Amino acid sequence: MSRLNEHCAIVTGAGAGIGRAIAQRLASEGAKVVVNDLSLQAAEETVAVIARAGGQAHAVRGDVSDQADVERAFGFCEKHWGNCSLLVNNAGIVQQTRFADMEVADWDRMIAVHLRGCFLGCRRAVGPMRERGSGVIINIASQLGQIGGVELVHYSAAKAGMIGLTKALAREVSSEGVRVNAVAPGPINTELVMALSDSWRAAKASELPLGRFGEPEDVAATVAFLASEDARIYVGQVLGPNSGDVML
Ligand SMILES: NC(=O)c1ccc[n+]([C@@H]2O[C@H](COP(=O)([O-])OP(=O)(O)OC[C@H]3O[C@@H](n4cnc5c(N)ncnc54)[C@H](O)[C@@H]3O)[C@@H](O)[C@H]2O)c1
Repeated sequence: MSRLNEHCAIVTGAGAGIGRAIAQRLASEGAKVVVNDLSLQAAEETVAVIARAGGQAHAVRGDVSDQADVERAFGFCEKHWGNCSLLVNNAGIVQQTRFADMEVADWDRMIAVHLRGCFLGCRRAVGPMRERGSGVIINIASQLGQIGGVELVHYSAAKAGMIGLTKALAREVSSEGVRVNAVAPGPINTELVMALSDSWRAAKASELPLGRFGEPEDVAATVAFLASEDARIYVGQVLGPNSGDVML
């Protein structure tokens, strides 16, 4: 498959879980991929997996909430491969806390990684994309940004913010050739979900119409579709690979 061989992609938080699966899938469809992660070692492991499969990728360590780090990822892409034509804002963290116990620092970090990180990436990507008249941005939100999650006020607010950002930005730039969409996964088997309580996971699994959590590859397939020309009329949409948990 080579649906994406024109693309120079940046995938944030691609050292593990969903981001790694997205990077692998985009590379398998021909994209060159900058693999960002807080952990250089994790990013390099993703690059090694992609290289073994014959794909092209490069690791760039960085914190998505840090403007200089974001600049480094785009700088690498532009220097070696050309302008970033496909940005996937995926990096994320989770922390379960009752609202009464939520520290201001907990709130600030959650908003910084998800919402500021998404803003910084989009802000850096959009200028060159508009100039070229083409580009794709995909923001990995969560269904909890649509329905709210128990003991996850900060996470849910950050993800709802990413959905609002996606829609507003899509309205502003789609006429200039830049397509912006979001993906709002349900529970997916990754380390992030393992950080939630056993009782949360058991209760969640029992209420899913499909009866099971998704896999990172399920989200990656949704991202690859949105990145491709098959999705050329998708603008400001929020797609839900979620085992039927949320039906909007
Ligand atoms: N797993 C799920 O059930 C689920 C459901 C809905 C949405 N999501 C979202 O999907 C995305 C990926 O989640 P995952 O389950 O793969 O998580 P994960 O914990 O398995 O992987 C997240 C990766 O992001 C990296 N990261 C964290 N903070 C970063 C930062 N500031 N800058 C750069 N990299 C950073 C981590 O080092 C890690 O490699 C997140 O945005 C998450 O909120 C996950």
